[in-house]
Amino acid sequence: MTQGTYAPIYVASLADRDGFWAARAADIAWTRRWDKVCDDARPPFYRWFPGGELNTCFNAVDRHVEAGHGDRLAIVYDSPVTGGTIERITYRELQDRVARFAGVLAGLGVGRGDRVIVYMPMVPEAAIAMLACARIGAVHSVVFGGFAANELAVRIDDCKPKAIVSASCGIEPNRVVAYKPLLDAAIAIAAHKPSSCVVLQRPQHPCTLVAGRDVDWSEAMAKAAPAACVPVAATDPLYILYTSGTTGQPKGVVRDNGGHAVALKHSMSLLYDMKPGEVFWAASDVGWVVGHSYIVYGPLLQGCTTLMYEGKPVGTPDAGAFWRVISQHGVKALFTAPTAFRAIKREDPEGLLVGRHDLSCFKALFLAGERCDPDTLLWAQRILKVPVVDHWWQTETGHAIAGNPIGVEAFPVKPGSATKPMPGWDVQALGADGHPVPAGQIGSICCRLPLPPGTLPTLWNAEDRFFRSYLEEFPGWYKTGDAGMVDADGYVHIMTRVDDVINVAGHRLSTGQMEEVLASHPDVAECAVVGVGDDLKGQVPLGFLVLKAGVKSSDEKVVADVVRMVRDTIGPVAFFKQALVVKRLPKTRSGKILRGTMQKIADSEAWKLPATIDDPAILDEISEALRPLGYAKAPSMTGGS
Ligand code: COA
Ligand code: AMP
Repeated sequence: MTQGTYAPIYVASLADRDGFWAARAADIAWTRRWDKVCDDARPPFYRWFPGGELNTCFNAVDRHVEAGHGDRLAIVYDSPVTGGTIERITYRELQDRVARFAGVLAGLGVGRGDRVIVYMPMVPEAAIAMLACARIGAVHSVVFGGFAANELAVRIDDCKPKAIVSASCGIEPNRVVAYKPLLDAAIAIAAHKPSSCVVLQRPQHPCTLVAGRDVDWSEAMAKAAPAACVPVAATDPLYILYTSGTTGQPKGVVRDNGGHAVALKHSMSLLYDMKPGEVFWAASDVGWVVGHSYIVYGPLLQGCTTLMYEGKPVGTPDAGAFWRVISQHGVKALFTAPTAFRAIKREDPEGLLVGRHDLSCFKALFLAGERCDPDTLLWAQRILKVPVVDHWWQTETGHAIAGNPIGVEAFPVKPGSATKPMPGWDVQALGADGHPVPAGQIGSICCRLPLPPGTLPTLWNAEDRFFRSYLEEFPGWYKTGDAGMVDADGYVHIMTRVDDVINVAGHRLSTGQMEEVLASHPDVAECAVVGVGDDLKGQVPLGFLVLKAGVKSSDEKVVADVVRMVRDTIGPVAFFKQALVVKRLPKTRSGKILRGTMQKIADSEAWKLPATIDDPAILDEISEALRPLGYAKAPSMTGGS
């Protein structure tokens, strides 16, 4: 991509949708050309490149070897938590390992369309397992390692995998996380039983295998015959990635093969300004969408070197870890969540550790996953002296909805804004009447249908939920679930979620799901969970409990119980550490709990007395109860609504 002006690209993407994406699709190797670019015969459901056939693994791996780049590094694995392990894998080695692991899966009876759950830490084998699924047309579903057995079981029952690929353990800075007991427990809980599990034994904590079900990764690889790439339909699912919705049942976001490959490859040059052979680092986890799109598929489709980092921004060993990795491996662009930078800033406020490393290779920082507060953006700019791009997207969309397309034209930065809509995205703030509100006014952020390629065509086995969650409220639009505005310069500003989703350290979680766990405690009559502001993590969950009459347990015991229950049921990543017992919850006259008002009171923000409130005195009780925990410091009510 050469530097130019972005406007004509963006205009063409909307005015000549099919011509625009057909031109981008020419960058992908197809085994059969598509019949149509966008099938829009069944609105509001759309399919991209129907009739086309390709293999995503071929495009991400084999294609580069065939083009003579087999000696180029595909993956660099850097793992401070295992004492500084570094592994460099060329495209040729990756092709060999992926083909052999595809052979392992095929030998276990996994074929096209079968699901495979990948429950692994940040090791190259996780990417190899994903690519091996893509190679044989199987559908992977990666489950983040910070989720507990019950969450894994829910996903097993929803996508019914033929096999699960896992590891003996993950490694957190303060502890080894034994995965195998979680895996075994999940399979015991789930109604569906996978026929096999392939387990990577890690020396930090080897595990016992279940005879007849479990297969040792290394032994299986040693015996496996390599499997070839299988052409699949562009519209076939490549993966399912579960994400938090408003209930305990996560949403299985489906990603197709064709549109995904086209959109991700395009984004690598337009937005991330990455050329083949350059080193890209997404400091996230393969369990999240950022890991799928920009640790695995995007960089590899572009022929870049991708960095897999098993460590944290701080504490492994210090707040200079990111600068060490950038310098040591020649990273050109880093992508992470703002919370990682807040963590670094807290430990090294002046950014002194930056000066200890040669960062001349480093050209841009990309932040996403949560709202980027202007302080963090400006601080990163100041200490790194490179462009800092705040870009906004979601698990559902798979790639950025809005960003600063520095591969073509770098727009002036407005801290707090994710800059401009990306090609194919018509982003508007809609009012309750379904019409765009004037520039600068807050509305429900929606995107005009059809969404560009690479976005979710549906939810796994839940087309009706897909329709109800995203398409029903504003006909002709996709409802993002975010509120915000588009300003007079066309910049997109994302403010907050409009639903029960909260964002804790860049991790998307559902307060509704946590409430289900709290409500299952025998002493809890009613409960609510809200996301309250946190300097490091952006938001953290806070629970409110109303106990049943006559409960004998102390408040402290019930609180300790529910904290443990959320950790055991959802996982440590939920970071549910605090709850308080209150006499009553504030509600509307129709019985709806006023969570938004409780959150504002807790965060000491201005709030309005809801016109429909049943008993305003309860809000005073809530404030009183919150103060000892350090919340509700400056109560300020701004009159009725
Ligand atoms: N497996 C098992 N447990 C995990 C885990 C994993 N893969 N990832 C996190 N956890 C655990 C942590 O150990 C922690 O447990 P604890 O309560 O016993 O200490 C808990 O889940 C919360 O983890 P986290 O939210 O990551 O908090 P943290 O205090 O360990 O680290 C940051 C804070 C900011 C350093 C960290 O969140 C971070 O690096 N974030 C980067 C952003 C990111 O990766 N975003 C993903 C989308 S881009
Ligand atoms: P996830 O599906 O985990 O990627 O989370 C998506 C949600 O994170 C979005 O709907 C937003 O609420 C939030 N989000 C992600 N990136 C940004 C950003 N750059 N600015 C504001 N919010 C963001």
